[in-house]
Amino acid sequence: MTRVGVLASGSGTNLAALVAACRDDHPARVVVAGSDRPACLAVQRARAAGVPTFALRARDFPNRDAFDAAMADGLLAHGVEVVCLAGYMRLVGRAFLERFPRGVLNIHPSLLPAFPGLDAIGQALAAGVAQTGVTVHLVDEGLDTGPILHQESVAVLPEDDPPSLALRIHEVEHRVYAAVLREWLSSDTGTR
Ligand code: GRF
Repeated sequence: MTRVGVLASGSGTNLAALVAACRDDHPARVVVAGSDRPACLAVQRARAAGVPTFALRARDFPNRDAFDAAMADGLLAHGVEVVCLAGYMRLVGRAFLERFPRGVLNIHPSLLPAFPGLDAIGQALAAGVAQTGVTVHLVDEGLDTGPILHQESVAVLPEDDPPSLALRIHEVEHRVYAAVLREWLSSDTGTR
């Protein structure tokens, strides 16, 4: 069983979906949820699901490296081996990544490299594309730039507005993240 930590800053629906899917014969368990926003819904959802949580505020640290180190410490205190970012609104640095050699994954609501960064759904609507989607990728130091593990398309309908498109994208996200995590773990040779 691989011990997974989830980092989230927002509403936490992907966190909740991961917690729900990582049970029974799934090879991972979500053992802790960390956040940079103590009051966010993601923290509340994790608690409600019985997952231990911790939250750190960036303003309580002298710089990003110190914040990242404390976030990694919080995860490692729970024996985390693999990290899943799920709406975590911060970049992580090299030192953080090196502390999780079995992988740090992220889920993003577009077909990367299209529409990285904030409001990918709004970006897709503004661009008028017919297809957008979901990407699960390994995290590197860039903004939504790491190696892609899985992508799935979602059609943009003529009548779509941000909430309607977000709803269909989230449905895909909630299904694919745990499935990609399973695949990733089954390909894990233990050498990463
Ligand atoms: C998701 O769309 C995810 O792809 C992106 O941030 C959003 C988080 O939503 N990285 P939630 O907090 O999981 O509901």
